[in-house]
Order: sequence, then C-alpha cells, then structure tokens
Amino acid sequence: MNENFKMTAKTLYGFESILAKELRNLGAIGVKEGVRSVTFFGDTGFMYKANMALRTAIRILKPIERFKIYNENDLYKNLQKINWEKYLQVHNTLAIDAAVHSSIFTHSQYIALKSKDAIVDYFRNKYGERPNVDIKHPDLQLNIHIQEDTCTVSLDSSGMSLHKRGYRISTNIAPINEVFAAGLILMTGYNGSQHFVDPMCGSGTMLIEAAMIANSIPANINRIEFGFEKWVDFDNDLFEKIHDSLLKKITYSSQKIIGFDKAPSAVRKAQENIKNANLDEFIIVEKQDFFNSEKPVEGKTILCFNPPYGERLSINVPIFYKEIGNTLKQNYTDTDAWFITSDFNTGIKSVGLRTSRKIKVFNGSLECRFVKYEMYKGSRKMSKQ
Ligand SMILES: C[S@@+](CC[C@H](N)C(=O)[O-])C[C@H]1O[C@@H](n2cnc3c(N)ncnc32)[C@H](O)[C@@H]1O
Repeated sequence: MNENFKMTAKTLYGFESILAKELRNLGAIGVKEGVRSVTFFGDTGFMYKANMALRTAIRILKPIERFKIYNENDLYKNLQKINWEKYLQVHNTLAIDAAVHSSIFTHSQYIALKSKDAIVDYFRNKYGERPNVDIKHPDLQLNIHIQEDTCTVSLDSSGMSLHKRGYRISTNIAPINEVFAAGLILMTGYNGSQHFVDPMCGSGTMLIEAAMIANSIPANINRIEFGFEKWVDFDNDLFEKIHDSLLKKITYSSQKIIGFDKAPSAVRKAQENIKNANLDEFIIVEKQDFFNSEKPVEGKTILCFNPPYGERLSINVPIFYKEIGNTLKQNYTDTDAWFITSDFNTGIKSVGLRTSRKIKVFNGSLECRFVKYEMYKGSRKMSKQ
C-alpha cells in the first residue's frame, strides 16, 4: 500500500518544467520531464496529494500494465490478460480515453472502442454480465496510450480534468482555463511577495489562481471529487490525513490582489467566483477601464492579463494594443507587465514597447505568446544600479 510507484502527470505545452518544479517541491521522487507530461514516483498518499495540490497538472495517471502490440488483436488479447477485478466490479461503470502516437495505429477513438470491448468481454465471459460505459461520471476512468508499438494502460486518478477546480460558477465570453492561468502566473515568478493586478479580469480566473498561489492554498481545495475516490482500494482515512496536512500549510500573504474589468457583468461574475472560492478577503475587483486607470498600489507589482485577442472578442487590434502600451508607459512604473495574446504580429508590434520575454504557449489550440514588459521606476539604467 505504501510502496512508491511510477505516475505520469499530464500538462499543457510549455508547462513541463513548471510542473516538474511543483512536483519536486511537493516531495516527488525521480521527477522527469517529458512532452506535455512529467513522470515521477510516489506512494498512494502522494498521488492523493498531487491531485489536490498541483496547479499545472491536468490529470495524474497510474500505469498498471505495459505491452507491445502490432495489431488490434494484440491489444485485445493483452487487455484480457489483466486481472480487472482488482480495479473494477461488474456492476461498476467505466470510460476509456485513448491517445495514439503511432504509425501502426492512427485512430484513438477506435483504440478506445476496441479496449472497451476487451474489458467488457472479459467480464461477460466470466460472469455473464458486463460493466457499463459512463462517459461523464464513470467509476473507473482508464487511459490507453500507444507510442509506436508500446501500449501503456493507466488508471486515471484524477477523473475529470484537474482544471475543473470547482470554484467557477459564472463565466464570461472567453474564460481562461484554470491550469493555463496558474501556469502563466507561475511563469511570471509571482509568489505572493509582490502585488498582483489583472486589469482585464473577466470572470476572475487569474485573480483566484494568484490568491491560491500567494497563500499556498491547494489548487483543488474546492473540487467535489477525484477519480481515485471511487477506486476499489480508496483509503478515505489516508485521504483525510493528506487533506488536513495540506490545509495546515496554508500561509497568509499581505500583498494586494486586484482586478479590473470595464464590463459590469464581468465584475459581477468575477466577484461571484471569488466568493465561491472563499477568497473574497484576499481579492478586490473594480469596474474600471484599464486605459483610464492608475496603478492601484505602491511597490513591486506583477500585472498579468489575458486581453481580448480579436479572435473571440471583436476589437481594433492596433488601436487596442497601442493603448495597452501607452497605459503601461504612463501609469504603471515599477511593474512587471505580462499578457498573453494570439495577435503576436500586429498586436505585439502595436504595443510600442520592448518585450523582455516572449514565451510560446497554446491557449487551447491557439498558438499564443506570453510577453513581458519591464516598466522601471526610473530609467532602465537607474533601476539596474
Ligand atoms: C479574454 S477576457 C478575459 C478572460 C479572463 N481571463 C477569464 O478567465 O474570464 C478579456 C476581458 O477584458 C475586458 N476588457 C476589454 N477591454 C478592457 C479595458 N479597456 N479595460 C478593462 N477591461 C477590458 C473584457 O470585458 C473581458 O472581460
């Protein structure tokens, strides 16, 4: 029960090293970065902890079997060799996710279907009954990963994607994914020792993720359920112990976290979400047009935002981004300003300031740049002295 085993945490493109750092800080062993994934070792308690605490993981997989396959029959036969009663009862439900990177197999949906057939037939042949499929809320979520001729079968300990933190009840037109928001904020180096401002906060995702980072609040403290809670071997006492130990690590940051949005409906939604996340004592949200705003706090501040890209929200890109540049230059000294945009040609050029970082990220399937502008207090030279 307390032995270490290998796990794979899945993440988004470009967030691998941040996730690896999170895992090391949490106490994982043998942490190795992959492509959109990080592997590590830990015991059952660590698996619970990782699901609760990691900010940049989408899901955490526990591999149970690995074998070579050269055709779909190999897949079917090898899946039938697994002792499925260890993981699933005949009256339980299951769902299968498949990811295929192979020249032999091309259709992930077909692989998922074939795998489901193998498992269902395993039970039917033995008991005359079969587990049902429930895509939305299964008792066991399985993951089949095929890399060329190697198939890895994993239990998905998270169940629903870990970006579903459980705090968001209201969304605006283009809300940012919670894991993506947390990853971007961690990329800025924000740790709660600076002030944090999102001047176009929409439904407040960046603000909520920032407040959880600043106060060491586990990312998934508001989540209703994890996949592992329905596993045959779920240890509720251990889970409660892990839960309590994470709560004891919550700290208190006195730095400010402030959001603006010019749309009253966005302000209202942000406030609802913040309240739902129990973070209203840490975050202030105001109706404010960023372009008419002044820096709302004195001292070192990180500005981090997700302006409209022109893709989903209609804006005049050159004028809008020029306004961002003017506002930063005139009213936001002593600030590290970061924003994400898919308008990385016209948009970024129109800002009219020199970027000090430009990081390639993907917002869903949209290629974006996460850009940084260092707005010094005095001249750049003075600030370096
Ligand atoms: C892409 S959305 C932000 C989504 C947000 N990150 C979330 O998770 O919901 C962009 C937001 O910028 C706001 N906005 C656009 N122009 C603005 C301005 N000049 N000042 C303040 N807010 C602005 C819009 O009202 C919208 O809510």
